[in-house]
Amino acid sequence: MPRRQAEAPAIDVRDLTVRFDDVCALDSVSLSVDPGEFVTVVGPSGCGKTTLLRSVGGLQSPTAGEVRVGGDDPESAQDAGDLGFVFQSHTLFPWKTALENVTFLRTLAGREPERDRARERLVAAGLGDVVDASPRELSGGMCQRVAIVRAMHLGASTLLMDEPFGELDELTRYDMAASVLDSWRDSDRTVLFVTHSVPEAVLLGDRVIVMADSPGRIVDSVSVSLARPRAEATMDSTAFTEQVAGIRQILRRHRTTLADR
Ligand SMILES: Nc1ncnc2c1ncn2[C@@H]1O[C@H](COP(=O)(O)OP(=O)(O)O)[C@@H](O)[C@H]1O
Ligand SMILES: [Mg+2]
Repeated sequence: MPRRQAEAPAIDVRDLTVRFDDVCALDSVSLSVDPGEFVTVVGPSGCGKTTLLRSVGGLQSPTAGEVRVGGDDPESAQDAGDLGFVFQSHTLFPWKTALENVTFLRTLAGREPERDRARERLVAAGLGDVVDASPRELSGGMCQRVAIVRAMHLGASTLLMDEPFGELDELTRYDMAASVLDSWRDSDRTVLFVTHSVPEAVLLGDRVIVMADSPGRIVDSVSVSLARPRAEATMDSTAFTEQVAGIRQILRRHRTTLADR
């Protein structure tokens, strides 16, 4: 449920089509996300999840259709520091330490760097020992955690996350999920979160958007009826298992096999 009313949706995607030569990455996709909502996106590899996120972030121009972020075009939202990203690849600044990576985006956006708070966030993410290390000294999973901390520290009202836990091991993944949920609950932030893991989508989301490929499109939007706060134990409940099974069924129904192409 949205936690506050606002005149404009946090994210409004209308009839968005993106084509790359003969590939229709997104075919007339529409999606509206309320301020404060945590929306997750699942779908098979190649169904356009990254293209959707890049379009919302203003990094990919539509072939047709329109994208608004807080009622504005994505480029303006980004310039105003209203958009935070975590990409599949972590994209840290190699010449800066972990701590500097976390504070730098705030400085760029004209905000106080809040170094002490940034340090606390890194410690909470299990990175207390590497605050002053440079990215090349860190494992892929550690870099990914720094990138997640950086996005949360920026304080943007809308956060776009593209498989941010991809490089993390099973246990760290749930620690980071808990920390993203904590940070989201303490803010009025909107999150659009892509994953190929259905359990992760259900654990995190208010709503799960289900996509299919060839062409890339949204086939369903499923409200998650699990109480918050959610934790690892949530995944032991029957309600959780049923929601996951329901979404897997939708994915299966829309799956194209190689023979269909
Ligand atoms: N820059 C690009 N140039 C050409 N094709 C692309 C480009 N980006 C994505 N695609 C194609 O668009 C489709 C959707 O890709 P993507 O959004 O990365 O899917 P997902 O993130 O769901 O795996 C795929 O077929 C992919 O090969
Ligand atoms: Mg992708």
